[in-house]
Amino acid sequence: MNLTGYCLLVALMPFVISRAQAVSADSSYQASTTLHDHISNLYQFSANGSFVDNIVLRHNGIVLVTRIDVPEVWSIDPRKGTAWLIFDFRGEDAGISSCFGITEVTKDVFTVVTGGFDVKTFSAVPGSFSVWKIDFTSQHHNETISDCQGTQRVPTVTRLVDIVEAKALGASTLFRSRVSSYLLLSESPRGIIWKLDLRTSRYSPALSEESMLPITGGPAMGVNGIKVFDRYLYYASVTKGQLRRIPLSETASATGPSELVINKSGVDNLDISQDGIVYLAASTENQVLKLTTEGKILEVFGAGNSTALAGPTCCVLDRRGSKVFIGTNGGQFAPVNGRFKEPAKVSVIQV
Ligand SMILES: *[C@@H]1O[C@H](CO)[C@@H](O)[C@H](O)[C@H]1NC(C)=O
Ligand SMILES: *[C@@H]1O[C@H](CO)[C@@H](O)[C@H](O)[C@H]1NC(C)=O
Ligand SMILES: *[C@@H]1O[C@H](CO)[C@@H](O)[C@H](O)[C@H]1NC(C)=O
Ligand SMILES: *[C@@H]1O[C@H](CO)[C@@H](O)[C@H](O)[C@H]1NC(C)=O
Repeated sequence: MNLTGYCLLVALMPFVISRAQAVSADSSYQASTTLHDHISNLYQFSANGSFVDNIVLRHNGIVLVTRIDVPEVWSIDPRKGTAWLIFDFRGEDAGISSCFGITEVTKDVFTVVTGGFDVKTFSAVPGSFSVWKIDFTSQHHNETISDCQGTQRVPTVTRLVDIVEAKALGASTLFRSRVSSYLLLSESPRGIIWKLDLRTSRYSPALSEESMLPITGGPAMGVNGIKVFDRYLYYASVTKGQLRRIPLSETASATGPSELVINKSGVDNLDISQDGIVYLAASTENQVLKLTTEGKILEVFGAGNSTALAGPTCCVLDRRGSKVFIGTNGGQFAPVNGRFKEPAKVSVIQV
């Protein structure tokens, strides 16, 4: 496939939104430090309707993002502000309309969740969800993708497993203990966390709690973003507006009830640094929160009516823990001020 047509130079050079544009913090928060620091845009897609779902970093510093509006995985070079299409699932399976969680499982090997999903109604096609492997280390395919300013290897993409029992799958995270290693996957409508053994491709429900279910009478969005840290699974429960954590056994089952970390409407996805600093994307609030694992807010980036981060759906820390890369939906789901929408983008915050 000739991918050079997708090769795009960033139209906007990275720009910085100054503190002057910051909106004051929600008074209910008592954040102990400043609201806003520097937010720069790295790359913006060209069309309204573009919708980034998840974000991850490669060892070489390249950012990978998945999209919900099209079944595509993109690669963004933060140093150059260039982006290129890594893989389009339309060529594999016409039932795949969207890509969701992406997780590194071994060095430079990633899993990605795919399925049939209608962004307009936010409804999934039950039984259409699968997990694929994107392998940048494989020697089998020796083509390269031109990215205007250089080349990179084309990854090998293979279907790992169909999880036909799931109504929908969203985010994913890796769980490792002395005795087991699983990819955990969230099923939002039914409030279930699945565990997938990557060696055998066997899967089963691992966790399920009332707190993971959607609120009754609301959109079918319960548990979404998940992250393992220090023997807990942290999870965002979307319509309940909560970040919670639940203690895990060596086989990824619950050893006790979950507890609240923080109430925050619009919670979507999160990342956690090695020293336990949580970055939480609250997409409908146009904010990313920095907080402790006990839920104490340290800093807030963006604001409810600010377009600095319009619809932040996901975030990932760099290896030094000094930058957070953020993917957005451009406010497609909940326009800023009820009006503002823009194409999806990838931004970076210095933290
Ligand atoms: C793969 O590409 C590399 C770099 O272009 C080249 O050195 C190598 O010989 C190629 N290997 C095969 C099997 O074609
Ligand atoms: C979080 O929200 C729940 C449900 O609305 C409420 O019962 C609880 O008191 C809140 N907790 C905190 C710490 O704000
Ligand atoms: C945000 O915008 C909405 C709609 O324009 C407005 O009602 C609300 O007061 C604004 N909030 C703040 C904090 O400015
Ligand atoms: C996206 O939509 C907004 C209005 O909703 C419009 O102002 C803006 O120009 C559009 N941007 C693009 C790139 O089409």
